[in-house]
Amino acid sequence: VAEPGTVQPLRFDEGALLVLDQRALPGTERWLRCESPGDVADCISTLAVRGAPAIGIAAAYGLALAGEDRDGAAELLRSTRPTAVNLAWAIDQVLAAPDALARARELHREQEAADRRLAELGAERFSPGDRALTHCNTGALATAGYGTAGGVLRAAWERGRLHQVWVDETRPLLQGARLTTYELARAGIPYRLITDSSAGTLMARGMVDRIVVGADRIAANGDVANKVGTYPLAVLAARHDVPFYVAAPLSTIDAGTPSGDAIPIEERDAAEVAPGLPGLNFAFDVTPAELVTGIVTEAGVLEPPYEEAIAAVAER
Ligand code: MRU
Repeated sequence: VAEPGTVQPLRFDEGALLVLDQRALPGTERWLRCESPGDVADCISTLAVRGAPAIGIAAAYGLALAGEDRDGAAELLRSTRPTAVNLAWAIDQVLAAPDALARARELHREQEAADRRLAELGAERFSPGDRALTHCNTGALATAGYGTAGGVLRAAWERGRLHQVWVDETRPLLQGARLTTYELARAGIPYRLITDSSAGTLMARGMVDRIVVGADRIAANGDVANKVGTYPLAVLAARHDVPFYVAAPLSTIDAGTPSGDAIPIEERDAAEVAPGLPGLNFAFDVTPAELVTGIVTEAGVLEPPYEEAIAAVAER
């Protein structure tokens, strides 16, 4: 099912999960072979595989590699990263299925189909000539193989509704600078890389027509947890009247979490910010629903009031 020009993050083959090591990209394409849930858990916690939908699919395959102790494996995988709800969601889906591997493969296909559908719906919001800004990496690498916000950009480009992408570097691990630029270049989509702190200047100069980002968890009231740096973008977008879209499959919506305050925010090693210095490294932030123009899902583009829009799709 691989789309020409995309790089797939995961492959299940001959009893093992092969993970493209995203820490080594864009310089090196190295595949890691996981033969146990523990191997998969290591890949998720060290960010060899990352992005909310991709870690969900990886964990689903990880569970398919478990022996007798499926519950222990599920707990190990669940504990790797706290913010992305796709992880817990995928684990629960596999635990409830009689055949773990068959369900993992099915989730992989279903999530890719969801990405394609939401990408099409999101692209409809774009206009020819648009210069869109994005944060982190939300393309094929971060998902089941097509992309959320990255998929929307790709679909908009294919439909002649995108002129260029502004790519935030995404401190401290540079998912934008390393991974999004790599994917856009492979897809032939024009981009310019910017420092995260340039976004305000670009918006003040009228150089940004639209912002589209992904999500790690969307609460029942529409608050959005995503890569740290998303919230300041949303505040700037409101100040400059730039439409701010979040693109995510329904599996990223957590109707059981009432608002952003209840979303667990992963804190990572301060050494990722600067080795040897005292630091603080929140990996995600929360954007209040009132700053979000629309949430692009495979079931349609949700608009305020989000409480109602989310309740309606969560019942599906
Ligand atoms: O820490 P990461 O690289 O896993 O963070 C990824 C993000 O924040 C993405 O924006 C999010 O998972 C959506 S990916 C389609």
